[in-house]
Amino acid sequence: MRPDLTLPAGVQLAYGGGLPSLLIHTQHSFAQLYAHGAHVSSWMPHPHEMILWMSDQSVYALDKPLRGGVPLIFPWFGPRADHPEAPSHGFARVHSWELQEVETADDITLRFRLASNPETSALWPHRFEAQFSVTVGVALTMQLQVTNTDASAWSFEAALHTYFAVGDVRQVQVTGLENTRYLDKTDAMREKTQHGPISITSETDRVYLDTKATCTLHDPVLKRRIIVEKSGSDSTVVWNPWIEKAAKMPDFGDDEWSQMLCIETANVGDSAITLEAQQSHSMSARIAVEAAL
Ligand code: BG6
Repeated sequence: MRPDLTLPAGVQLAYGGGLPSLLIHTQHSFAQLYAHGAHVSSWMPHPHEMILWMSDQSVYALDKPLRGGVPLIFPWFGPRADHPEAPSHGFARVHSWELQEVETADDITLRFRLASNPETSALWPHRFEAQFSVTVGVALTMQLQVTNTDASAWSFEAALHTYFAVGDVRQVQVTGLENTRYLDKTDAMREKTQHGPISITSETDRVYLDTKATCTLHDPVLKRRIIVEKSGSDSTVVWNPWIEKAAKMPDFGDDEWSQMLCIETANVGDSAITLEAQQSHSMSARIAVEAAL
């Protein structure tokens, strides 16, 4: 936290689970965030229950990402090409971000900052400044802005790796990606086309390509629709590990796979962003919920 920052009403520091966090109460919703990874771990707009899913097996430690909520993926997605020693999905989710500013009105906005430093430079040799803003209110809005503070161009990947809580993943549908091409990571990255809404019937790990579409997650069990609107993002990742992969992950309960689905606002693979010196790029997602009786 910036040393001279005082937290306004509605924002409280909390300890528990091994890492400090911030509890945000607004007229319309509650949220919990960690400076570790600038990680949103909970968002509950009234009168809905948990919208983001967190694993009961999540580890809360400085060298591990949290399992659930919204891990912030930057500057590479998945393993780093030619660098097997580098952390999966980049370093942003295992770095401490500095809380710079809190703005309160009807909604509360928190701004976090991460800039290149000796630790990030050892993993990725580029100078950057990243800002992550989270607005908690009737919707949850997240914006990642990345600036190239180096003397020459570089490219990066990024994702808001959002885990949604669902009643039963086998019964949900995702609309908005019909007729979109995707790479199927469970089938040797084969390119396929989505026909109709997405249903989850087995391990699902897909990168939808060239899509700016708003996605809607229809949940007949929890009787709600979650709407993900985005900008500055050209890919969307849809992920559920299903039974076998869940059982292999130490920070993921064996039976938890049916309670979550990731819909990730992303720029990955061919949608990686190239920034010239001093250029910036912003990617944002706005999540809203509607009752569906
Ligand atoms: C998804 C990837 O975004 O994240 C999957 O497409 C990956 O391939 C999943 O398994 C979880 O990754 P991690 O590093 O958090 O276990």
